[in-house]
Amino acid sequence: MNVDNLARRAAPRPARALPDDPTIALLSAPERRIAAAIWHGRAESELRAAGSFTVIARTLEAAGAPPELVAIARRAIADERQHAAICAHVAATYALDPLPPVRTLALRVPIHPGASPALQRVLHVVGQSCLNETTGSAFLEGCLARSTAPLASAALRQLLADEIDHARIGWAFLAMVDDAMRTQVAAWIPTMIAANLRAWRDRPHHAITDRLVEHGCPRWEDVDAVVVAAIDDLVRPGLAHVGVVAT
Ligand SMILES: [Fe+2]
Ligand SMILES: [Fe+2]
Repeated sequence: MNVDNLARRAAPRPARALPDDPTIALLSAPERRIAAAIWHGRAESELRAAGSFTVIARTLEAAGAPPELVAIARRAIADERQHAAICAHVAATYALDPLPPVRTLALRVPIHPGASPALQRVLHVVGQSCLNETTGSAFLEGCLARSTAPLASAALRQLLADEIDHARIGWAFLAMVDDAMRTQVAAWIPTMIAANLRAWRDRPHHAITDRLVEHGCPRWEDVDAVVVAAIDDLVRPGLAHVGVVAT
């Protein structure tokens, strides 16, 4: 997708209403606690993604990316904050007891030792947008495919609609860099893919029941399969398409 097409998507998105969900009352107390913990954790991850896009917007600006692309990255900051609010609402709806406030987790901007400042900038965009947002979109699709509960399904749909655009920021940017930079990026891809997989696998593993799957909380082995497939079927072909071929 080119920048012009992306720019048409840069207008602020209106907040959409979320439905009531009578099926939540059919869950057991332990299931509701797990669902609340998972959605609360997602709220914190979304808030951290807002911080990541603050860095990405600055990075794109410093790298001389077109203003339209910077504007879309800035809108992604607002999108991620809205996602955090959506997930916090879902978590609170499942919770039987008051939940702690959603924390602003420390932002860990990856360090790429030995990379030049220009290469660091490109790697930051590739890591957050092409990798995190592409695997994140696949994860949400996997959750949604198994979800039947009205609230969880509506929330997942809202998140997914935006994450796909967030991934496109990185692909559009990567298509603009020169061949020498693409060659340098390629050398970092295996390390970055390993870091992305590690981040998914380090997440808490809850005791997921069939009913929790229906509420947008899949089993960790299914998440793992979805993420691995996204890397093989979307990330690697996407990188090859823009001329970044990992060796
Ligand atoms: Fe998000
Ligand atoms: Fe996102």
